[in-house]
Amino acid sequence: MLSISNLHAAYGKVEVLHGISLEVPKGKLVTLIGSNGAGKTTTMRAISGMIKPKGGKVTLDGKDITGHDSHKIARAGLAHSPEGRRVFASMSVADNLLLGAFPRFTRARPKGDIKRDLDKALELFPRLKERQTQLAGTLSGGEQQMLAMARAVMLNPEVILLDEPSMGLAPILVEEVFRIIQRLKSEGVTMLLVEQFAAAALNVADYGYVLENGSISVHGPAENLKTDPKVIAAYLGGGH
Ligand SMILES: Nc1ncnc2c1ncn2[C@@H]1O[C@H](COP(=O)(O)OP(=O)(O)OP(=O)(O)O)[C@@H](O)[C@H]1O
Ligand SMILES: [Mg+2]
Repeated sequence: MLSISNLHAAYGKVEVLHGISLEVPKGKLVTLIGSNGAGKTTTMRAISGMIKPKGGKVTLDGKDITGHDSHKIARAGLAHSPEGRRVFASMSVADNLLLGAFPRFTRARPKGDIKRDLDKALELFPRLKERQTQLAGTLSGGEQQMLAMARAVMLNPEVILLDEPSMGLAPILVEEVFRIIQRLKSEGVTMLLVEQFAAAALNVADYGYVLENGSISVHGPAENLKTDPKVIAAYLGGGH
């Protein structure tokens, strides 16, 4: 379980997160909804160690990981599939995936059967399977987005942060990504999801939080948020 309490984050002197609290219980899929610039990506960065929070606390299965280095947080079992394509361009698809499993080679994480998990990740993402030997930098934008997600899965993590996994994907691949998220969920993977398609995110999620200008304005079971007039007006009506 991932737990965040009173998290503050800033870029320079500009505070972007003003003390947010949220929980991602084990095995649950929680979505974070908000307009552009609300602070969704910043929330994920502050959780995974890409930026240092200015205040508050982040715990993973009860262990305090606040402000730890990102590699240490990965070893604690938190995977982050970041916004935009952050793949190792000059390495093959398969090597990118194996890098995702790197903390499992260090005794920090249970090693398990990495070969089997690689095969499983490639089954989950057939587009990557066809391209395992291709250099990641030569994949299309959408394929790189999928690679970033598959690499997060390779950590075999306690929690996965997914920041806009469908960004830049053609509609048919957006559906595929949501199917994959659903499948991970059915396997018991704990996830925090940020998606531009808020309605679709609420359809797969158990619980949702709405982030407005760096503060949580509403939260509740996804079912309730889907029918909340304010949420509908701001995030589910056309264009979102
Ligand atoms: N590296 C940075 N330096 C300075 N300001 C930043 C930086 N990254 C983000 N910001 C600012 O922080 C605020 C929150 O940005 P963030 O990327 O977290 O929003 P978001 O909710 O993920 O938006 P989007 O839906 O567009 O991805 C914005 O005002 C943004 O301009
Ligand atoms: Mg973002």
